[in-house]
Amino acid sequence: MAGQAAMRKIFLAPSLLGADPLNLSGSIDSLKNNFDWLHLDIMDGHFVKNLSFGPDFALALRKKYPEIFLDVHLMIDQLDIILPLFVKAGASLITIHAETEPHLLHASLSAIKNSGIKAGVALCPPTRVENLESVLELADLVLVMSVTPGFGGQKFIESSLKKVRELVSLREVHRYNYLIEIDGGINENNICSAVNAGCDVIVAGSAVFKNQDPAAWLAKVRGQI
Ligand code: DX5
Ligand code: ZN
Repeated sequence: MAGQAAMRKIFLAPSLLGADPLNLSGSIDSLKNNFDWLHLDIMDGHFVKNLSFGPDFALALRKKYPEIFLDVHLMIDQLDIILPLFVKAGASLITIHAETEPHLLHASLSAIKNSGIKAGVALCPPTRVENLESVLELADLVLVMSVTPGFGGQKFIESSLKKVRELVSLREVHRYNYLIEIDGGINENNICSAVNAGCDVIVAGSAVFKNQDPAAWLAKVRGQI
């Protein structure tokens, strides 16, 4: 179904993890401002079985691209050490996982908000929406992982859309304010179902950067949604 984007704002968020690691700023430039947010995946080799970018990289991005909305997705343990470094680096929004220190989730989200930036909470595929009950009121964004976190290029898990629908209805009933973001396995064949299910922010890594013309891909899917 086309036209959802015309009725409500849909944010396209390319994930830099899918870009050529030897040409990251070239990859950003190749998007030619055809995106809304830049999604930055942070991995610690512990919470997920991979490593990616550090706070110095985020800071360098912020300096080179002061106007970019930097959507930082923390897939890490030891939030107390790492989270403040990304606040300082200039993240616009920081998302933490509900599975990381669940007993501290409320406090961690409050800390992010108190530092003056937006706070998101993410769910791995096996985690239920009910686990977020105590923090939905606080969250600016809920990120539904539609693949196992840690790597780009995986297959979209269809049942994630059920969670998206659940989050849409909870938001309606309780008048919550969060945006719903989906991350993992998004391509031109499933992007419309994600938007129709209620996603506001669409992350895509491989689909954008493995395309010969990332800006054209973004423009094309924007026309479809
Ligand atoms: C995976 C990351 C994703 C990843 C998405 O843990 O959170 O942001 O870059 O990549 P694709 O779109 O290739 O699944
Ligand atoms: Zn991500």
